[in-house]
Amino acid sequence: MKIRSASATAKIVVVALLAQAAAANAAEVKAPSVIPPGSALNALALKSYADVQALLSGFMKQTNGPIEISPHGAFWNEMPYRQFIEGDLPEVTDRTTGKPLKILIVGNARESNIIMALRGTKGSMFDQETGSFGRMPPTGPYLSDQEINRLADWIDRGCPDGP
Ligand code: HEM
Repeated sequence: MKIRSASATAKIVVVALLAQAAAANAAEVKAPSVIPPGSALNALALKSYADVQALLSGFMKQTNGPIEISPHGAFWNEMPYRQFIEGDLPEVTDRTTGKPLKILIVGNARESNIIMALRGTKGSMFDQETGSFGRMPPTGPYLSDQEINRLADWIDRGCPDGP
């Protein structure tokens, strides 16, 4: 049997610890934003405002949603990117405060009106039972959870507007 010196054993321990730390670091760097790059889910990721517009318009077309009788109209088709991510919903104000409603909060889908409206988030003004507005579209059918999550993911990733 081979007998290792104390210093050789110490070296092995140090190397093992360094390797472990490097692996942990690599895992941290690779930590997914929301959809890990390269994962199968990444194919579903919305990459631009044009993708968002296509998703919402496709939904309208498919369900024949009563967008023409809404006060806000198909706002995603009527405003440029900057206004969509920074601006307010057209022709609509908060029923309690009378203040304008932002369409979304970049990086925070959960508290973005567009997501709360489409989800009918409990406790929000879009809660179907208790909210001042209720879930959108008012008559249903609703956008699927998967599609809402794609939109939410786009907002959480900072609303990229790539090519
Ligand atoms: C995606 C398809 C959507 C459709 C078809 C739709 C349709 C409508 C319709 C028909 C109304 C009028 C309801 C009524 O007077 O009883 C309405 C109101 C409203 N919608 Fe939408 N909506 C959609 C999406 C959204 C989204 C994404 C938001 C939020 C960002 C939103 C926010 C509102 C608000 C706040 C009102 C109330 C306006 C008021 O009464 O003062 N809607 N919508």
